[in-house]
Amino acid sequence: MLVAPDGQAPRLTERNSGLGPISNNKGNPMKAVLCKAFGPAENLVIEEVDSPQIKKSEVLLDVHAAGVNFPDTLMIEGKYQFKPPFPFSPGGEAAGVVAAVGEKVTHLKVGDRVMGLTGWGSFAEQVAVPGDSVLPIPPTMDFDTAAAFSMTYGTSMHALKQRANLQPGETLLVLGASGGVGLAAVEIGKAMGAKVIAAASTAEKLEVAKQAGADELINYTETSLKERLKELTAGQGVDVIYDPVGGQLFEEAFRSIAWNGRMLVVGFAAGEIPSLPANLPLLKGASLIGVFWGSFARRQPHDNAANFKQLFELHAEGKLKPLVSQTFALEKAADAITTLAQRRAVGKLVVKVR
Ligand SMILES: NC(=O)c1ccc[n+]([C@@H]2O[C@H](COP(=O)([O-])OP(=O)(O)OC[C@H]3O[C@@H](n4cnc5c(N)ncnc54)[C@H](OP(=O)(O)O)[C@@H]3O)[C@@H](O)[C@H]2O)c1
Repeated sequence: MLVAPDGQAPRLTERNSGLGPISNNKGNPMKAVLCKAFGPAENLVIEEVDSPQIKKSEVLLDVHAAGVNFPDTLMIEGKYQFKPPFPFSPGGEAAGVVAAVGEKVTHLKVGDRVMGLTGWGSFAEQVAVPGDSVLPIPPTMDFDTAAAFSMTYGTSMHALKQRANLQPGETLLVLGASGGVGLAAVEIGKAMGAKVIAAASTAEKLEVAKQAGADELINYTETSLKERLKELTAGQGVDVIYDPVGGQLFEEAFRSIAWNGRMLVVGFAAGEIPSLPANLPLLKGASLIGVFWGSFARRQPHDNAANFKQLFELHAEGKLKPLVSQTFALEKAADAITTLAQRRAVGKLVVKVR
């Protein structure tokens, strides 16, 4: 169910309020991973705190599993656009069971299996989430998969559908193709009928992209992206480029774009926000297109709900197979963040809370 009985689509957006998991009110005791000051993941602690009190528009989730995302690595270091008040729990998305429902939330009830975009707070036994950021999980999807699904597949679907208008038969280049959003883009690109060229930094990572359906592979630490793309596209260039990496690959990739091509600016995992000489889009008749899924979901909730309906159908048909490559106990959540930050993850990492 993606549209609530009152006709309002649940929004599944990133939370942008100052809510953390920690309440001044006395709730039940729960275990939570806490960030008490900005710094590396090894500074995180696990403590017993009061569970959150929900507002009228929120639901309380018993967290079963929490997805690990790149923003978690930035948020604990104070390098992300949202800076929650201390102490806070990291963890931007969760899957679990509804434990309590605020009186203004009409599309959910206690006991529902759901996934929620929390922004932060999911590395804890319970988290309070705005009701419009919560969606029921399809019956065929387990909690680990659900915890790994919304951020990456929501982003890549929006990028390829609304932003790039990817067409069957077009070529799609995915940089960082074995990472969270990258691997989702490979699968969704294949499901949309594109020829997918996966690019990544190691042979092992490329093998992961191949298993997800990529047609061609490029190791950009060993091979010139430009030369290989020229060969693979018979000199025509690629129609759509999906870039969650940034850094020096950005301009190199753009120089290989086709006439009428679209380059998607998704993220800057390499740490450097690149710039591009403005004559390049002119000469190529190509577009540089920004992607901000959290904002899209807030501003266009019905379009986002339609995307998730399609994603759940593709999952049920077996066309999307989210890869959870490693799971971590709540006590080891810091290791999960470190693994991601050190570029060692493939697919998704999940913290198992229950
Ligand atoms: N725009 C949006 O709406 C939106 C939504 C979600 C995420 N994002 C952004 O997308 C980016 C990727 O997020 P993710 O969760 O998919 O991360 P991820 O799983 O860690 O994937 C990032 C990939 O980037 C590559 N990379 C290159 N240099 C890196 C470095 N120094 N450190 C880490 N990775 C590096 C890695 O692939 P190789 O080793 O193969 O190069 C890695 O697989 C982040 O910047 C995130 O903030 C944007």
